[in-house]
Amino acid sequence: MPPSALSKLQSAVTQVKQVNVLKSTQVEDSPAIKVCVRVRPFIKEEVEGQRSGGECKLCIDMPSETQVRILNFDDPDDDSRAFEFDRCYWSHSKDHPFFATQETLQTELGEIMLEHAMNGFNNCIFAYGQTGSGKSYSVLGGKDEERGLLPRVVEGLFDHFAKLPQGATYKTLVAFMEIYNEQIRDLLAPADSEIKKLEVKQHPVLGTIIPGLTEAAVASCEEVLNLVDYGTQMRHVSATAMNATSSRSHCIFTFKTSLTEPDQPSKVSQTHLVDLAGSERAGRTKATGDRLKEGAAINQSLSTLARVISELAKSAKTKKKPNPPFRESKLTYILKESLCGNSKTVMMAAISPNFTDYDETLSTLKFSQSVKQVQTKAVQNAVNMSSVEAQLRAELNALKSQLQAIQARLMRGAPKLRDVQWTDLDLVRLWSFGGESFWIQSQRWLPPGVQMVGAYQRAVAF
Ligand SMILES: Nc1ncnc2c1ncn2[C@@H]1O[C@H](COP(=O)(O)OP(=O)(O)OP(=O)(O)O)[C@@H](O)[C@H]1O
Ligand SMILES: [Mg+2]
Repeated sequence: MPPSALSKLQSAVTQVKQVNVLKSTQVEDSPAIKVCVRVRPFIKEEVEGQRSGGECKLCIDMPSETQVRILNFDDPDDDSRAFEFDRCYWSHSKDHPFFATQETLQTELGEIMLEHAMNGFNNCIFAYGQTGSGKSYSVLGGKDEERGLLPRVVEGLFDHFAKLPQGATYKTLVAFMEIYNEQIRDLLAPADSEIKKLEVKQHPVLGTIIPGLTEAAVASCEEVLNLVDYGTQMRHVSATAMNATSSRSHCIFTFKTSLTEPDQPSKVSQTHLVDLAGSERAGRTKATGDRLKEGAAINQSLSTLARVISELAKSAKTKKKPNPPFRESKLTYILKESLCGNSKTVMMAAISPNFTDYDETLSTLKFSQSVKQVQTKAVQNAVNMSSVEAQLRAELNALKSQLQAIQARLMRGAPKLRDVQWTDLDLVRLWSFGGESFWIQSQRWLPPGVQMVGAYQRAVAF
């Protein structure tokens, strides 16, 4: 690094205060999507592989926990570009004052998502960035200390459940899917089952749904982690010149919780953890055949995501009703609610530290800036089960007294049946009770005092 650039970076480091913005109430209450950036270490593909032919030149700096800067060594006049985000994670080298581990992410992001879920708020975190920038590492991670957010959040969820007061009940459903070449695949479907063609639908009450997608009811952390392992093995991953374990699909892990504490409204929530496939340039990944086709589908859905974000960001400024092209890709259609509806959403932008990736990193940082403008409308999903129960009871009692009244009249004397109507459903409507109607479906259900004759052709009364 040239000495002038180095001194610029050093002076910047001392200037800015460290603030953990995500934890601050002020930002926490803001409806905007929170944006975090994470920079990874140099990887094998850079040091000895085809990714950058052994060229490793650090072009990223983090003067504070909310600032990231990118240096252009090719153009000394191009002042380094600085960006401000909700949180910046330095995972490039352990000796840095802001070094962030997988545990740091769990403490700051995972725990907050869990708190939201337990309080009945929907959540979404999605990892975005160029291929090989560290998205899957952040979301799924590796073994033991390298475990990513997903397994840690699942562990945390069951820790929260274990601390619930006596009498509280909870239910959890999990789903895991990938979008591969613009097709939704159920990652929890049995390996030998027929591949189902899954489609996204908008339901007037339930919102975005994917009929046929497995939603497994789970009771323990171990059960969920086994499902995650199973689904991860089913996911499309291949080696490219840019990343030996490159995700060839976007994957979405979802858990839904329903929590009822004594004398409290039930709280329901849905949380998505999304590991996107990375944007890539065919020339650099050296992709051909299937890899090339996958890359094209990935780039196409990411460009739809970019257009959706740009439209939402524009409307946040102009206050005009947006018209984002959600339906143009499965990814954006599924994430519609998370991007502008009822959800507390975080984007984790993963970036490479290497100067050979300057263009891609700059484009990720610019995209992340526009995501910061986008606002969602999170509301607490609290359902008052006791009032629902009270309503159902009242309805049941009303029906019971109606039935009793009918039975009493029937017992008093023969009803005067004037008409019998047949419907498509093979229902018989008996008109006989002074305006009230009574439906029966078979002879077995005839009220006392009424008998059906002639192969259900007409009803007669005694
Ligand atoms: N913070 C980190 N610490 C250590 N290693 C990391 C870190 N982030 C990423 N890596 C390593 O970098 C490589 C690329 O990371 P990863 O597979 O997560 O990239 P990706 O963004 O998911 O790429 P793609 O879009 O191709 O799927 C992996 O070998 C991973 O282990
Ligand atoms: Mg990946």
